[in-house]
Amino acid sequence: MFNIEDFDIKLNTEFIGRNFIYTDEIDSTNTYLLAKENGQNINGTVMLAEKQTQGKGRKGRPWHSAPDLNLTFSVLFTKDKFLFNNANLINFAASLTVSVSVENLFQLKTNLKWPNDVLINGKKTSGILIEAVSQSGKIERLALGIGINVNQNSFQGTFNYSPTSLRIELGKTVEREKLLAEILNNLEIFIEKLKTDKNGLIKDWKQKCRMLGNRVTITEGEIEKTGIFYDVDENGFLLLQAKDEIEKIHFGDVSLR
Ligand code: BTN
Repeated sequence: MFNIEDFDIKLNTEFIGRNFIYTDEIDSTNTYLLAKENGQNINGTVMLAEKQTQGKGRKGRPWHSAPDLNLTFSVLFTKDKFLFNNANLINFAASLTVSVSVENLFQLKTNLKWPNDVLINGKKTSGILIEAVSQSGKIERLALGIGINVNQNSFQGTFNYSPTSLRIELGKTVEREKLLAEILNNLEIFIEKLKTDKNGLIKDWKQKCRMLGNRVTITEGEIEKTGIFYDVDENGFLLLQAKDEIEKIHFGDVSLR
């Protein structure tokens, strides 16, 4: 059981998580916050669910998470044109946030996989899904969904990337309240950094991405592209060097070749 008081005491933010919704079960926290009819309009609203019946991952994949053990939550952004215009870089702010929070609290070394996975010892511990609703071509509301494997001890099924959890890596149970507060505190700082020092944020992200400079394969559906992971551009897109040409990659799964 998540203790909201323990979490609240540690929350130092101005706006993220100040409106906090906790639920036992929901289809998906992203879906809930994005649906206007649910009446959530406060910028920075956070919804945490103990169980998602239709948790969503990137590219239409499901996100499975054992109930009551992990963190599956979303942050709603409303009326923030700058963020809406830099939606792709929210991936960088969010994955850096998770990485820095885990390193600060648990002294575990993490690294980042483009665009937004957080890895420990080469295994995935967190995934991020950003979704938005638009009207007349303009984003109106945006949900940043974060799933973190915290206290889950084993994983069944087939995975695109092998999963792990903080508990597996640390050998002990993690206090979810403390972790969520640390994440939201840091998220507010990195969102501010995105607004005031975009290049600095990208630089921080690059320092934690070990694949940079390596030979990689990008898989997007049936299409595979191989080359050197040359850089990321000012929008967070991957620059792939193949046959003396630099190609900008907007989507895809990156793996080391
Ligand atoms: C991925 O790595 O494929 C992204 C996973 C994102 C999962 C989170 S859990 C909270 C939020 N609600 C969802 O339905 N998905 C995101």
